[in-house]
Amino acid sequence: MNRLEGLSIIITAGPTVEAIDPVRFLSNRSSGKQGYLIAEVLAEHGADVRLISGPTCLPCPNDVSRIDVESARDMLAAVESELPASVFIAVAAVSDWRPAEFYELKAEKAALSSTLELVENPDILKAVSQHTEKRPDLVIGFAAETHDLLERARAKRLRKGCDWIIANNVSGDVMGGDENAAVLITSDREVEWARATKREIAVKLANAIDATRATH
Ligand code: CTP
Repeated sequence: MNRLEGLSIIITAGPTVEAIDPVRFLSNRSSGKQGYLIAEVLAEHGADVRLISGPTCLPCPNDVSRIDVESARDMLAAVESELPASVFIAVAAVSDWRPAEFYELKAEKAALSSTLELVENPDILKAVSQHTEKRPDLVIGFAAETHDLLERARAKRLRKGCDWIIANNVSGDVMGGDENAAVLITSDREVEWARATKREIAVKLANAIDATRATH
C-alpha cells in the first residue's frame, strides 16, 4: 500500500475564481472531483500530498494537506511557495483571464462597461515546467478539450513543457460528473484509459507514476 512513500507531490485542483468586485466573479464549471480523487489515491499509497485548491464543495481527503486559494495568481504563489516537490500535477481548471480592474465596492451596473476588459492570467503549469531551480522530476498536466482531443493535447504538452499530459474529453457530462475517459500522453507512448469512474482514473495515474519510479 505504501509504494509511493518518499514521494512529495503537489496537485492543483478545482476552478479559480477571478473577482470583478466583492459580489461578482468569473469562473468555470470545474467541480474539483478528479483532482481531489488523485490526491486521495496518491496519499493512500503513501505519498506526501499537498493539494492547492480553488473553491469547491469537497472535503479534504484524509492525510492530504490542503491550501485554499481563489485566483490564478494566488494559486501560482501557493505553488511557488510549496516547491520543491518530486511530482507536480496540474488538474485545476485555471481561468485563462481575469478582469483588468477590481472594484473595491460593488460596481453599479452602469459603471461596469458592457465589454469587460480582461487580462491574461499566468500559466501555472508552464511556470512549473520551466522552473530553473525547482522543477519537479515529473510534471503532469491535463488537457481539457471538447474536440480534436489527441492533436490538441500533444501540442499542449510541447507548448507547456510538461513531461506527461492527460488528454481529457470534457464534452458531455465529464465536468461535474463522476466518470472520466482519458489518454496518457508522454514523449514516447500514448495509453488510452477507457471511460471509468474518476477514482479509477486516479488509480491508473498512481500506477503510472509508480511504474515510472520503478524504472529510475
Ligand atoms: N493550466 C495552468 N495555468 C493556466 C492554464 C492552464 O496551470 N493559466 C494548466 C491546467 O491545470 C492543465 C493544463 O494547464 O493542466 C491545460 O489546461 P487547459 O485549460 O486544457 O489549457 P489552456 O492552457 O487553458 O489552453 P486552451 O485554453 O488554449 O485550451
